[in-house]
This record gives sequence, C-alpha cells and structure tokens, in this order.
Amino acid sequence: MQTKLIAIDPLHIDRTLCAEAGSLLAGGGTVIFPTETVYGLGANALDAKAVERIFAAKGRPSDNPLIVHVASAADIVPLVERLTPMAKQVMTHFWPGPISIILKKSTLIPNIVTANHPTVALRMPSHPVAQSIIKNAGVPVAAPSANISGKPSPTAFAHVRHDMYGKVDMIVDGDVCEVGLESTVLDLSGDMPTILRPGAITPQMLEPVIGMVTSANSASPHDDSPKSPGMKYRHYAPNAQVVVVTGDASRQDMHIARLCIAAKCDGKRVGVLTYEDKGNIYNSDIVIYAGGTPMEYGSNLFAALRQFDDENIDLVYAPFNWTDEYSAAVANRLYKAADGRVARVE
Ligand code: TXA
Ligand code: MG
Repeated sequence: MQTKLIAIDPLHIDRTLCAEAGSLLAGGGTVIFPTETVYGLGANALDAKAVERIFAAKGRPSDNPLIVHVASAADIVPLVERLTPMAKQVMTHFWPGPISIILKKSTLIPNIVTANHPTVALRMPSHPVAQSIIKNAGVPVAAPSANISGKPSPTAFAHVRHDMYGKVDMIVDGDVCEVGLESTVLDLSGDMPTILRPGAITPQMLEPVIGMVTSANSASPHDDSPKSPGMKYRHYAPNAQVVVVTGDASRQDMHIARLCIAAKCDGKRVGVLTYEDKGNIYNSDIVIYAGGTPMEYGSNLFAALRQFDDENIDLVYAPFNWTDEYSAAVANRLYKAADGRVARVE
C-alpha cells in the first residue's frame, strides 16, 4: 500500500492538509496522526470495513476494543446510550485532554470497534492537529496507538514511519507527543468509577470532581481476568529484555554495575535506563537518561525503549523507585515492558 507522508506544524495548522487527512478518514482510509499522548492510527469509527483495516495494520487481536475520538464533547451524544452526570463532569473538567471514558454504547457504533462489548471508550484529544483532522473528518475516529501490536507506543513521527509505513494510507508528522503515555482509561459504565489504565489524569485529580475512584490492578501483565481486554496482552516490549531494579536506592548503582558486568561476560549487549543523570557509572554498553521527573521520564520512556532496540541491546536494567501518583502510570508501562522481570536490591 502507498503511504502518503505529510507534516503539519501544531503551532501553524495547515487547514488544507487537515482537510485532506479528514476526507481520507471520512472515505474509509487509515490515517496516523499525533495526539498529546501518543500517535493514533485512525479510521472512521462508523465504518466497520475501515476499522477492520486498523486491526490488520497493527496485527491487533480482534478482542481488544478501540477508543473512539471526537472533536467536541457534544459529538459523543449519539454514540452512547446515556450521557451520565458523572461523565459530563469528567468531560467538563478534563476534555480536551488525556483521559478516555467508557460508557454504554449506542447502536451507531459497530461491534468491531468495541470487540462486541456493550460499552465504548471515548476521548477528545487536545492536540491541535488531532482536533483539526477529526473535525474535518466529520465522523468519530477510532484510533489505537499507532504501533505494531505489542511494541512500545509511538511518540514521534520516526516511530510510526518505522512501524507503519506501507500499511496505512497517510501518516501525519505533527512533532513529538508531549505526554508520551497513553490516556487514562476511566470506566464509567458501572456503579463505581474505575481506572482501567493509569495515565496523566490521576485519581487525585479525579476525586475532587467525581468522588472516590477505584483502580483495576493493571500493573501486572499476568492478571488473567482483566476488565480492560487490552491489559492481558504483552505490551510495550522492546526486543531487549527489560529488568526493573527496585529496593535499597543507595545500593542500586553498585548492584546494576555488577549485573552489567555479568551480562557482558555472557556476551550480551546491555543498557541502563535511568532517572538520575550520572553518566555511565555502570560499565554498560549504553545508558539512556529518560529525565529526572516522572512527567519527563514518562514522556521519554517509549522513545528510550525503541532506542535500545536501535542499538541492538539484549538486556536493559531500569532502576525505579518513584511512588507518587503520576508515577503509577509510568510504572505501569515500565513493568509491562519488563514482562514481570524485577530485581530487588535488599
Ligand atoms: O492515549 C490514548 O488513549 C491513545 C491515543 C491514540 O488516543 N490510544 C490508545 O489506544 O492508547 P489503544 O487501543 O492502544 O488502547 C486502548 C485501551 C486498550 O487497553 C483497550 O483494551 C481499552 O483501552 N478499551 C477500549 N475500549 C474499551 C472498552 N469498551 N472496555 C474496556 N476497555 C476498553
Ligand atoms: Mg496501544
């Protein structure tokens, strides 16, 4: 398939290019566009044939439902059975922005979008390029993260071009994604608001608005009864094996240095992913400093995981001790990338 590559500057939106991307979507095509979280692979959410092409391009299992993106809050009214007062509150406070809400779906949404679930996830992104393209499409846009299924989500144009060139009709370069972690997924379809996937909108931000929020245990990739189907799949996995290193912070560096030497003796290429910029004190082949705050680290995490692959790294040690609210989203992605591998320094 021929993939058209275009660039749209988020600070100077080119209306003609957004209209071109929008009409491709409206006509059943697939378009990758930037959002403030990660790049999305979009298709007309009301066109089952178009949505099929998303699953094919990503190699995504058909039992994993998609998020439907809209250009304005009012656009979700025909897509849901009932717009609840709690959903209205969340939308008023946090849309446009990095949170998706789950409500009971209307019959307008084809079953392929929701993987036969009676509910639908909805989001209004704040990225100006995403907003303009969806508005121009004139239809709701189903869009998962634009990575090959199981790989780290794409946060830059180079990532989507690498994964998806030749598999979609158009890729829009709209610079890097600021948040860098996918949206918070908040299930509002039951009695209790439940976070199915942690993200930049945290429980502490939600609770003053809608009261108590529970969290589904999403950190463990081995949970085999997930509420959100996407949680059961292996995620964010680079080719390298990632090992999270926790425990006594004062002894972590020494421990990692020893692990690196042992791995190199085994003939492995080894990397370290850090949040303290100390240079290469580990004797590893490469050190990537992802940033000194959870927000900065979160926005660089997926790019760092991809960089380890570019450098043919076999094994990555990632010290991680943050426990604040925002870090829950970061830890969720890192632990999934590690597929449960944790080394504890006592
Ligand atoms: O930030 C984001 O949310 C990005 C950008 C492109 O908007 N999109 C994204 O989509 O991350 P995706 O498909 O990679 O992740 C959607 C997650 C999956 O874990 C899926 O299982 C869950 O949301 N999900 C979608 N619809 C659902 C539903 N009706 N019930 C439960 N979980 C649902
Ligand atoms: Mg995804």
